[in-house]
Amino acid sequence: METQEAYLRGLKQWLQDTENAPLEEMAEFFAKRLDGYEEHMSVWKKSYRLVAEAVPDGCRKILDLGCGTGLELDLIWKKDPDIEVTGVDLCRDMLDKLIEKYPDRHFNAVCQDYFQYDPGHEQWDAVISFESLHHFLPERKEELYRKIYRSVKAGGFFILGDYIACCDEEEELLRDVYLKRRKQSAIPEDRFVHFDIPLTMEHETALLRSAGFRLENIMDEDAAVIVCRKEE
Ligand SMILES: C[S@@+](CC[C@H](N)C(=O)[O-])C[C@H]1O[C@@H](n2cnc3c(N)ncnc32)[C@H](O)[C@@H]1O
Repeated sequence: METQEAYLRGLKQWLQDTENAPLEEMAEFFAKRLDGYEEHMSVWKKSYRLVAEAVPDGCRKILDLGCGTGLELDLIWKKDPDIEVTGVDLCRDMLDKLIEKYPDRHFNAVCQDYFQYDPGHEQWDAVISFESLHHFLPERKEELYRKIYRSVKAGGFFILGDYIACCDEEEELLRDVYLKRRKQSAIPEDRFVHFDIPLTMEHETALLRSAGFRLENIMDEDAAVIVCRKEE
């Protein structure tokens, strides 16, 4: 297994090598890479399985934030094809691929920014999100996690699968580079660009707890899976 030191060295080298690559707008980034996308994401196979296993029996309604082409839904619908899902994603092409894969499922596609989307009050048995939220600063996620908490039914779940920084150094390094590159390119604050700014497990779980969730299970895989619950 790669040591943390070697990992950070590789990350720094990559940041240097890509220093002059322009930041790409979020939806365009994913639309451009649609061919080969699912193959690329297959490295997270184990974490997709953990997400599906964390979905409670009897779950009827799921909200999926940043659903993409629905890779996390593949195993969830395999377990129960009748689960109703609302999937929110900025990228129309990703959503269209999901609909093409699953024409017969109860699926409501919402092509919208999830920070703007209104998930309602105590609507969902589970809210899920996989490999999407690490593109945003904690200041922004804080409010979203509160909104998710309000939208989950009492006793319901928020299942977060995501890229977690290995240490404070990784979190700070990526955040600094992200802010610097945005500034250099004069990217307006409301414009989403594709760049990874993961939080450490300590910081991610603190945000989830401060939104009100109880943390039921933390599976620290390559893509970590954090199972959060709203009290009954
Ligand atoms: C790496 S993909 C993950 C997709 C899917 N969850 C999966 O695991 O295959 C990230 C997805 O999040 C979506 N996304 C990023 N920011 C978003 C936002 N603010 N609102 C809605 N969707 C967003 C992107 O368009 C993309 O489809």
